[in-house]
Amino acid sequence: MSTSSGAPFSNIGVPGAYEYFPLNSPDIGTVREGNEQIPLLFKPLTIKGIEFKNRIFVSPMCQYSADNGHATDWHFVHLGGFATRGVGAICIEATAVVPEGRISPEDLGLWTDSQIAPLKKIVEFSHAQGTKIGIQLAHAGRKASVHAPWVRDRTGRGRFDTAPEEAGGWPNAVFGPSDIPFADSYPAPKALTERGLLDIENAFVASIERCKEIGFDFVEIHGAHGYLLHSFVSPLSNNRTDIWGGQSLENRLRFFLRIIKRVREAWAGKPLFVRISAADWAEGPEKDDNGVWKQWGIEQSTILVGKLRELGIDLLDCSSGGNWVKQKFTLVPGYQVPYAEVLKKAYPNQLVGAVGLITEPNQAEEILQKNQADVVFLGRELLRDPHWAMKAAKDLNVKVKTANQYERAWPSLL
Ligand SMILES: Cc1cc2nc3c(=O)[nH]c(=O)nc-3n(C[C@H](O)[C@H](O)[C@H](O)COP(=O)(O)O)c2cc1C
Repeated sequence: MSTSSGAPFSNIGVPGAYEYFPLNSPDIGTVREGNEQIPLLFKPLTIKGIEFKNRIFVSPMCQYSADNGHATDWHFVHLGGFATRGVGAICIEATAVVPEGRISPEDLGLWTDSQIAPLKKIVEFSHAQGTKIGIQLAHAGRKASVHAPWVRDRTGRGRFDTAPEEAGGWPNAVFGPSDIPFADSYPAPKALTERGLLDIENAFVASIERCKEIGFDFVEIHGAHGYLLHSFVSPLSNNRTDIWGGQSLENRLRFFLRIIKRVREAWAGKPLFVRISAADWAEGPEKDDNGVWKQWGIEQSTILVGKLRELGIDLLDCSSGGNWVKQKFTLVPGYQVPYAEVLKKAYPNQLVGAVGLITEPNQAEEILQKNQADVVFLGRELLRDPHWAMKAAKDLNVKVKTANQYERAWPSLL
């Protein structure tokens, strides 16, 4: 390894990195000295001793590009590109804790040890570039065994969603809280048994052990978008008659809380994020005039978050929808921010992340300034423009460190 660190002027390497990379000091995406006013977007945030250099987080985004659950060079390039461009944190896509918990056959997984190495390479690269990185652990529940979106689009979305066995799917081994399918075009789920629930719980813990070996800075549990944990808490998808469901809110929350309790114990002392859907967006009210819960909504979400807090979660990542095939909502900028704000107001000491059509630096800064959230997760806008953090620095008039290698493209940030 050549670091050329002996000479008075040399291209110093990252100390301890697995190969030579020029050292970026300070870290890419941190504010340079001498700025008069630092926007909140670029104020560091420390969670359980881990410092996130700014508040621009990459939202988890499935790439449908894994090889039998293993991250590939697509993931390395895709995620590595964010690590070099100044975001505060990268959250790797929904990663299944058991094979049948994948959404598509090409989802990432962390159910076996051979899946550790390619993720570790991504984490070590990200760390060498001074960027924090975590992973979203997930179980797709009744929304498992479907084609990647572009395959669905080509075959006729809503008609051939299910990935059959010939396409690597497992439509006969799809499980949910009840036997209610997400849609006619989706697999028919089987209701999980007590044994099945315990196996999933243990699988989350086993994946956490692998996360420790990989060296992730944080873990996010996927409790949103109609996947297993969300489907347990919603009365639309859970009509069990045992202690794990039905009309009783306490019963519907039980499995979600059980998973978080076990994960929290296993991932002690490190940042734990939880993504929830704050609403199902189904027709009608959350609760009817007789006090019967009709769908999942912000009232129950507020109760859930209170209990998640008691279990010691660190950050609540507030999304919505995905559990009701006929969901209706208007996609306006920041469409989910009002939910983040309600939860932030209910629990002022809770760190909250906002997500959903946050595309403009001033919009992101305003969300933080108004205390609607503490960090912003960006999805599609970062796919369009992986350099968004630099664009934000320019727009917000703050000088931020770019990668040495890209400095000549950003003279105004020097
Ligand atoms: C290609 C793609 C893949 C996604 N995969 C995930 C995922 O793995 N986990 C998740 O919680 N959300 C996933 N989402 C939702 C995003 O994380 C984000 O919440 C959503 O796109 C709204 O934010 P945006 O408007 O900034 O894109 C995905 C979105 C896209 C566009």
